Amino acid sequence: MTLNTLENYQSQNEARKSKITNRPRRLRTTPALRAMVRETELNARDLIYPLFVRHGTGRNEIHSMPGIYQLSVDEAVREAESAISLGIPSVILFGIPAQKDPIGLENFSDSGIVQQAVRRLKREIPEMVLITDVCLCEYTDHGHCGVLNTGEHYQRGLPEGYVLNDSTLDILGRVALSHAEAGADMIAPSGMMDGMVAAIRSALDTNAYENLPILSYSVKYASALYGPFREAAQGAPKFGDRKSHQMDPANAREALREVAMDIEEGTDMIMVKPAVHYLDVIHCLRESFPELPLVAYNVSGEYAMIKAAVANGWLDERAVTLETLTGIKRAGADLIITYHAKEAANWLIE
Ligand code: PBG
Ligand code: ZN
Repeated sequence: MTLNTLENYQSQNEARKSKITNRPRRLRTTPALRAMVRETELNARDLIYPLFVRHGTGRNEIHSMPGIYQLSVDEAVREAESAISLGIPSVILFGIPAQKDPIGLENFSDSGIVQQAVRRLKREIPEMVLITDVCLCEYTDHGHCGVLNTGEHYQRGLPEGYVLNDSTLDILGRVALSHAEAGADMIAPSGMMDGMVAAIRSALDTNAYENLPILSYSVKYASALYGPFREAAQGAPKFGDRKSHQMDPANAREALREVAMDIEEGTDMIMVKPAVHYLDVIHCLRESFPELPLVAYNVSGEYAMIKAAVANGWLDERAVTLETLTGIKRAGADLIITYHAKEAANWLIE
């Protein structure tokens, strides 16, 4: 290189340097600087931990959900205690009944498994917020979320086996009331029946539970990501699918309608489920309905995918889990129902 070309090169370099006015990297230089400008903070108090309760004793692990168990009432208390000691304020309960039948009688029985678990948990850990999932699918012998259009209930003009809306609402009201009487702190209807919030609100209000909040699964998609949960809760449909009530994954605008209806019916919080594949919906609802707490359900299939990749050594568990949960919160969720809750809370303490 001649002296002339070297000088040329240097002056060009100087000119280029001074042209970069904005350098976002300035604020990424040290961990302290990065922490100062961090926009989203994930906390243990943002997390809700799902528990599967069953009759009997002990616990058994769910194959497709490593680290998650079907729990006896005793074991559920133990699990809830370890969650609250990590700063997780709340659990959501799912019940596995002793017997199933066409309408799911144990669902609103005083001696039902969820009712038993709620009574024990409330007594032993009174400060924990107990949310109960309200649907029929774990309790019905056909595995559907409502009363089916068949036999004595048959309604002309609807397909055989269709999940009947209004006859299901009566049962949902009874289940919610039964959970309230056991001591639940919040009722979470997940069946995507039209008018379910109003039906539950009225069942609660006419029985002096007007202060008990409802968390509606307002926007629940007919997703392929519920498979592991259906193993865990033993609530897979015996035939057909849930597409006549759960939302089409292709639809986002329809979510606005579902949420508007639920708010009008008196829901206290709204939910989007699943989470990661629906971040656009979470974001949109956060903007459109800023006045309500927004919950995202990071579902069983999302959990299973991470666990499977981690078991293969393909992903760093801690990094990918915290990135996933942070992403859900960044999109606009206030609270996240997640099977990762305990692990995440542990990492957040470190
Ligand atoms: C029951 C219910 C389901 C889930 C929560 N409540 C299953 C379904 O709708 O088929 C799924 C949760 C998960 O996958 O983690 N209505
Ligand atoms: Zn259901």
